[in-house]
Amino acid sequence: MERRILAANWKMNPQSAEEAVELARELDRLLAPLPLTKLLFPPFVFLPLLEVRNLTIGAQNVFWEEKGAYTGEVSPPMLKSVGAEWVLVGHSERRNILGERDEDLKRKAEAALKNGLKVVFCVGEKLKDREAGRHFEVIRKQLEYVPKREGVVIAYEPVWAIGTGKNATPEQIGEMHAFIKEIFNTKVLYGGSVKGHNAKELASTEGVDGFLVGGASLKPSEFYKIGEALAE
Ligand code: 13P
Repeated sequence: MERRILAANWKMNPQSAEEAVELARELDRLLAPLPLTKLLFPPFVFLPLLEVRNLTIGAQNVFWEEKGAYTGEVSPPMLKSVGAEWVLVGHSERRNILGERDEDLKRKAEAALKNGLKVVFCVGEKLKDREAGRHFEVIRKQLEYVPKREGVVIAYEPVWAIGTGKNATPEQIGEMHAFIKEIFNTKVLYGGSVKGHNAKELASTEGVDGFLVGGASLKPSEFYKIGEALAE
């Protein structure tokens, strides 16, 4: 694995299989020369369709059981069988829109690891926590549910910076990444409005081992620019 990680979280995009195949092909071609670990997290349904050689594929979610009567869920062995090597666990959209609880996330991460999948475990505080000065406390609590094992990396994604165009400052990122590494010494990615124009500054921030990118990962040339900043 290369030292730094560039991860694309497509979220619930794009809208068709044709577009997904085309976008993955373009990212695969553009990012090929960059000396980074390159991860792509598409929606489940696109996983078996994407033909990529330079990107490693992962899923945006996983269930904690391996099989059985769990309508609508997808298990770790199923993901492995379509080529996924990683999973995202605990994204704030799943915590806050789908109501996933810390205990659920722990079970998901453990099930993924048991089945040989690597995990990007997401943590992040809400704006009200940051404004009340509770951000370290919130992150410490979320980290209690993270298996502190090989195969787990953390993504620090402050909720107020996701999809808002408002990224955390290098100071805020630097101190939070250092705080996280004191609790669990692993790679820590930053996520939250990482764009072509701010990638250089964010990439040179102490303690940043990579990025988890949402919106800009759907735009090949902008995503390439972010990768270039990370690879420097
Ligand atoms: P944006 O890059 O769109 O802010 O999303 C960040 C994110 O949630 C990645 O998981």
